[in-house]
Amino acid sequence: MSPYKPDINSFYTSQRAQTLLHSVDWDNVPRHVAIIMDGNGRWAKGRGKPRLFGHKAGAAMVREAIASAIELGIEYLTIYSFSTENWTRPEDEVKGIMSLFVEVLERELKSLQDKEVRVKVIGDMDALPKKTRDAFKNCISKTAHNKGLTLVVAVNYGARSDIVSAVQSIAREAVAGKIKAADITAHTIADHLSSAGIPDPDLVIRTSGEMRISNFLLFEIAYSELVVSEVLWPDFDRDEFLACILLYQQRARRFGGV
Ligand code: IPE
Ligand code: IPE
Ligand code: MG
Repeated sequence: MSPYKPDINSFYTSQRAQTLLHSVDWDNVPRHVAIIMDGNGRWAKGRGKPRLFGHKAGAAMVREAIASAIELGIEYLTIYSFSTENWTRPEDEVKGIMSLFVEVLERELKSLQDKEVRVKVIGDMDALPKKTRDAFKNCISKTAHNKGLTLVVAVNYGARSDIVSAVQSIAREAVAGKIKAADITAHTIADHLSSAGIPDPDLVIRTSGEMRISNFLLFEIAYSELVVSEVLWPDFDRDEFLACILLYQQRARRFGGV
């Protein structure tokens, strides 16, 4: 897939990973993994530090997740990095996260290019501070031609608001006579979501032990497998990622059939 050639035996060095690697079914690697990166605040709290300290450590772990996805041959990695509801957090935390996006995107651009990663965003970028929006736009346009992993960053993303936007634009097309109500299908809706063109996730991982979806990809995850890891996001290393892939491979996906 990617011209970037990883070397799996030097990537996985721990005893745990070596053991897990033996069980990987290379013909059943999920094509699209979506991650709800949760637990940064608790991770920081456990160290007596402010929440932003956890977000910085969490941002560093994204690099590790990208590397894992490439090693494993995953084609799409979606990361839930800021929700439409996260604006309700204290102002200094929100500002800190918005600046962190700029810092990380600028710092990581070269590494993303080297790894042939193509960056996309789902969510409403218009409501982001200008510097943050510009940093995302720059990263999207500079990596648009890359042929490796597609990294989908969910930022100012909420599935309900994404569905509302899709319905509004379909309604406008109907009023303009471009589409008939009877012709609207699940595909029509999918094509109007911000994830249009991206295959549905095969696997959704949520870290920090929380068993909920928190307004993430509601339409797209109809038949995704769900894996909840107890590990807090800043501790979610390559070994834990690999363990989640193995849990996925133990599932029998039936899509409503037998
Ligand atoms: C996830 O970690 C990061 C964002 C939602 C931005 P949290 O900040 O939600 O961490 P906890 O859940 O409070 O531990
Ligand atoms: C989900 O985590 C959003 C992101 C990971 C960006 P939250 O921490 O915001 O979700 P809740 O509040 O626990 O449901
Ligand atoms: Mg949380």
